[in-house]
Amino acid sequence: MTISGSKNAALPLMAAALLADGPVTINNVPILNDIFTFNKVIAETGAKVSYDKEEQKLTIDPTSMDNYVAPYDLVRKMRASFYMTGALLGAAGHARVSLPGGCAWGPRPVNLHLEGFRAFGAEIEMDGGYVIARAPNDRLPGGSFTMSPSSVGATVNLVLAAVRAKGRSVIRNAAMEPDVVNLCENLNTLGARISGAGTPVITIEGTDSIRAGTISNTPDRIETGTFMIAAAMLPGSDVTLKNTLESDLGSFTDTFRKLQTGLEITGDTIRVRAADRIPPVSIETAIYPGFPTDLQAQWATMMTLAGGKSTVTDHIYPDRFSYVPELVRLGADLERRDNIVVIRGRSQLKGASVMSTDLRASVSLVMAGLAAQGETEVLRVYHLDRGYERLENKLNAVGARIRRIAE
Ligand code: EPZ
Repeated sequence: MTISGSKNAALPLMAAALLADGPVTINNVPILNDIFTFNKVIAETGAKVSYDKEEQKLTIDPTSMDNYVAPYDLVRKMRASFYMTGALLGAAGHARVSLPGGCAWGPRPVNLHLEGFRAFGAEIEMDGGYVIARAPNDRLPGGSFTMSPSSVGATVNLVLAAVRAKGRSVIRNAAMEPDVVNLCENLNTLGARISGAGTPVITIEGTDSIRAGTISNTPDRIETGTFMIAAAMLPGSDVTLKNTLESDLGSFTDTFRKLQTGLEITGDTIRVRAADRIPPVSIETAIYPGFPTDLQAQWATMMTLAGGKSTVTDHIYPDRFSYVPELVRLGADLERRDNIVVIRGRSQLKGASVMSTDLRASVSLVMAGLAAQGETEVLRVYHLDRGYERLENKLNAVGARIRRIAE
């Protein structure tokens, strides 16, 4: 199986393209609904977007941009559209962007984004569910901001706003996720002056211009972790993942080794051979390089099959457990207590109809269906299509039997 380009790294690169003096081409952009949605958001500004699906190259030309707005009907479909605030502030010095809604598992505020923009010299007002952001004389002065908690989205948004500021900006307690590092490294190849990406302190020297050019997206670390878990939880599996970047998995790999599977990492290839049985291994999510919250549902699903009791704790999103009642419908023995799910293991899953509620919960239900006896019907798979490219094709190619029923 070949791992696709990262959804969560591509979206910041797309927003960053609006900062350039000419067309920016992004390589390795996955064919996902979230990418299509963001293409529409970017096209609303008047920028030209062309997506070569064959080559998986996306070209954004911001020279025709003349409308610095991101409308509610698009932003509500995908919260990462909020990156438009930082991009438009950075590119034009003003922006009118709808506040993102909540999501299936929590409020997901943007207070850190707004406090950070203010710290960099922006005036921020709210009007009818929209954020109105303005820079004095259409160019941010720059400034310094310490965020708490560390936020991926806020770090991305503040980098986008600061890259073309007049002066220096400093972000403290910045997110260290590979998505942030990938954004900063790519922006630097186009003339930005960012240092400290991947550490808690990112310093950005404002520059007058960001060049047109070609930048590259990184492989999807969450898709990689998802398929590693799927392979480990299905007896007899022997799966080889290509186009991976294991270093982006942070401490996940060490946790995964506790499963005692056959794990071989050779360059950009990861091979997983399932062990005869799954030992109970408890996890707690944390910011990078800790265990990613985007993999906790998948891990909990696997632990329902383990030979003993384990727990999965989410410190990032304490409510991200909507998959639990659906796994119970499949016969799993687990229960939620606040931000912890206690999994008794030794479950024999039996097929049933189950409901997807969000992207990572939906892929976990597909994985549970692969382990269950009989047929499982997963409903509302539009959640799945937001973040997994051709999931059934990839899994069927390694022995799964999944078919998509047109709704
Ligand atoms: C990004 O969301 C990812 N999305 C999420 O992946 C991922 O789960 C999350 O980071 C955590 O790793 C994209 O990259 C598009 P945060 P983001 O801001 O940026 C709190 C997926 O499945 N917070 O790092 O929204 C927040 O409530 C998606 O692909 C504030 O309090 O996450 C949370 O507890 C789901 N105020 C914590 O920070 C703010 O202003 C981390 O959130 C912002 C965040």
